[in-house]
This record gives sequence, C-alpha cells and structure tokens, in this order.
Amino acid sequence: MTRLPPPRDDLTGFAPYRTQQMPAAVRIQANEWAEPNPADRYLTAAELSTLLLNRYPSTGAELRETLASRWGTLPEQIIFGNGSNEVLLNTFLAYGGHGRTTLVFEPTYSMHGRLAVIAGGTVAQEQVGLPYLVTRERALAAIARVRPAIVVFCTPNNPTGNRVPADAILATAEAYPETLVLVDEAYSDFAGFSHLGDQPGHPNLVISKTFSKARAAAGLRLGVLVAHPEIASVYRAVQLPYNLSALTLAVATKLARDEGPIAARVVTAARERARLAAALALVPAIEAFPSEANFILFRARDGDAVGTHARFLAEGVLIRDISIWPGCAGCLRVSVGTPPENDAFITALAKVFEGVTA
Ligand SMILES: Cc1ncc(COP(=O)(O)O)c(C=O)c1O
Repeated sequence: MTRLPPPRDDLTGFAPYRTQQMPAAVRIQANEWAEPNPADRYLTAAELSTLLLNRYPSTGAELRETLASRWGTLPEQIIFGNGSNEVLLNTFLAYGGHGRTTLVFEPTYSMHGRLAVIAGGTVAQEQVGLPYLVTRERALAAIARVRPAIVVFCTPNNPTGNRVPADAILATAEAYPETLVLVDEAYSDFAGFSHLGDQPGHPNLVISKTFSKARAAAGLRLGVLVAHPEIASVYRAVQLPYNLSALTLAVATKLARDEGPIAARVVTAARERARLAAALALVPAIEAFPSEANFILFRARDGDAVGTHARFLAEGVLIRDISIWPGCAGCLRVSVGTPPENDAFITALAKVFEGVTA
C-alpha cells in the first residue's frame, strides 16, 4: 500500500459536494436562471480586445460603486467572491475555524455547514424539518444553547423556498451582538425583500448575495458580501488577491449597471412557479411546500425520491433529489425553468405519478 500524507483528522471521509449533473434535455435541478444569457450581450469584440490578460485584474471599483449606490451602502462595505460560495468560505475562515461553532437551521443549503467544516470549525445543526418554520423563539433558544460564533440564516431558504421571519433574524442580531449573523440572500430578489436596510442598526449582520440566480449569471461566478466597514476589512484581509478575473469584472460591471431585466425575471419566475405549484397540487401522491424562490420543494408521499427522480429523468427532465438532506426523506426540488421546460415538467409529472398512490 502506498503511504500518503493524511488530511486533517476532521476531514477524514469528507466527501465532495454532490452536484447532480447527469445529461438531460430539460435541466431544472440547480436553481439557475433558465433563459440563455450569452456573454456577448455584455462585451463586444472591441471591448474584449482591450482586456489585457497579461495583467492582473483591477479590484472592481466601478462595480463596487454601482452596487453600493444601488443598495445604499458604502463601497468599502462590499466584498466580492468567485461565486457567493467564496465569500461564505471567507466568513468561516475569518469568524469560524478551530474551536468555534457555526449554527445552521436544517434543512438548508449544505455548503454552509461544509464550508464551516472546511475552515476547521464545528457545526451545530438545529433540526427544524418540514415545514421549515424558523421562529424567533426557536432561533433564540438554539443560540442560547449553542452560543455559536456564527449563525446562518438562508432566506428564502434552499431547499424549502420559504423565508425566515425577519423578527427571528433581527432579534438574534440584537440579542447577540458578538455573534456574526450571516444572512444568505441568494434568492431574495425573487421574494422582493432584503435585509440590507437592517444593517445600519445591526452591525453584526452580514449579507451574502449572488449574480447566479435572478441576475442570470451562474456561469460568471460572482458573489457579493455586504458588511459593516470594520467587518469588511477583516474579509479583505483573508480574501485571495485578484480573486475575480478581468473577464468576470468586465461582464459583471455591465450586468450591474442595468437592473431592468431583474424585475421582469422576478415576475416571470412568480408566474411560472405558480404554474408548477398548481400542477403539483393536483397530484395526490405529492405534498408540495410553498415557495417564494425560483424552485419548489415537494415530497413523494410514498417516500420514493430516488425512483421519482429516475422516472423524471426517463422523461428527459432532470430535477434534484433532496432526500438525503436532513429531514427531507422522500423530497425532490424542481427549479423554475423556461415556460417550455416547465411544460415538459408538468407533462412528465402526470406520467411519473401515474398509478402512484398517496
Ligand atoms: C442558498 C445559496 N447560497 C449560495 C449559493 C451559491 O451560489 P454561487 O453561485 O453564488 O456560489 C447557492 C447555490 O445554489 C444557494 O442555493
């Protein structure tokens, strides 16, 4: 047997993040924006020829100023990451890590817990289950018990699609000023709210946002974190130099200037989500959960998520099997696709549940 250097003890058996990327005609498994958004909408050939790849990229001052003026923050409160996953990782590197605990409310986006572990910290999971009701009382009781360095709220939550009540988040931030309260707003555009306005009164609130969802640019890899200026300077100290490529910055700067398409996407997503929800509600063998995001969580009442997933795939429709997420036995998640993709899902739905009883 070849002897190899062992990883850290706490990473023994740590498996890679599972993305479900099998081929399918209709891919509505990753909560992306489904309409094509080609890069040549944003950069002309002439602009590309001014992008000098031999030079390191800029720090993105124009992008930062555009977002700051839109969000009513100071430019220095804004931190960029290669996807919001990177600013999330930096959260755990700077405020979590060895000897510190991060509290998450399950089921939620699994990268929060994974990144906390990668940073060397401990994760405390408060099992909320379905329906996902993170009340103020529940949040405060869990924090009083765990005394975490970081508490994470995902709102609207992935995979459940509903929001965490604002009073749960704000009461936490107020009661525990020395706890970092990370609010993941990846999907909040779809629900029409943000906690950015709460930040001035709650300096321990840090908010992550992404260009991957309502900004239709998951392939660009741009995440943004907004924090109190002193907290932001801690993030700047831990982040990698030149973490955004010149191409990313150039496209994102154009994208950020024009928010017009976002409002239209939010309207489309709500309309299409309602169509999906109505179709799911007609199937007695399914329990679907109310969503404000661009996806819907549903449970196959017979508990057979694996079989359901496979039957959708056989119809050419790839959705996400969520059944191994905590408290999600039997659950699947469908993202809002283009109208024809949603039609394909609705058509497949009838076939997939033909003869399946509740
Ligand atoms: C809640 C949540 N946060 C963050 C992310 C990561 O997004 P990004 O593409 O910005 O890394 C996702 C991706 O699906 C997500 O669901």
